[in-house]
Amino acid sequence: MREEFEVMISQEQLDKKVQEMAEWLDKEYEGKVVHLIGILKGSVFFMCDLAKYMKSEVTMDFISVSSYGAGTESSGIIKLNKDLDESIEGKNVVIVEDIVDSGRTLSYVRKMLEDRKPASLKIITLLDKPDRRVVDCKVEKSGFVIPDKYIVGYGMDYAQKYRNLPYIAVIK
Ligand code: IMP
Ligand code: MG
Repeated sequence: MREEFEVMISQEQLDKKVQEMAEWLDKEYEGKVVHLIGILKGSVFFMCDLAKYMKSEVTMDFISVSSYGAGTESSGIIKLNKDLDESIEGKNVVIVEDIVDSGRTLSYVRKMLEDRKPASLKIITLLDKPDRRVVDCKVEKSGFVIPDKYIVGYGMDYAQKYRNLPYIAVIK
């Protein structure tokens, strides 16, 4: 059965915000190569659009971690499913995330990647749900601050579905 959705952030709003975030990155890293690291799979749509709007030279890699089961509650345990393909030593790394919820995923990834001696490391997330934070986690740039609602679309799933919705929605 297909669920019913209520749009929270439209395609137009997403597009405008992603463009602004790309401009922000271009300013931060003027003249430098930016190494984007996407956290699979939720950040894929955001990362592709972000990279397309960026004027800086960009390289990309992906990492896969999981803390969620098939439902909507975090288990609290982070598992590394797929590591990066390349070394990040000396690179200007930007971790690209879809959403910060409990903060567990990003604090785990940030610590792991900081240990690998990048030249610099920043985190950019499209969405932030501050009400749900359990672990303190530094984020350099976030797009939208949203209320404590489970959302899908633009990369985000419910039981692996609805990632391809071009907007962000709440399941009714
Ligand atoms: P955290 O470790 O609790 O911060 O969870 C982060 C991850 O959980 C994100 O990267 C998302 O993939 C997923 N997540 C958190 N909230 C939502 C949501 O509302 N919808 C879909 N996925 C979510
Ligand atoms: Mg994610």
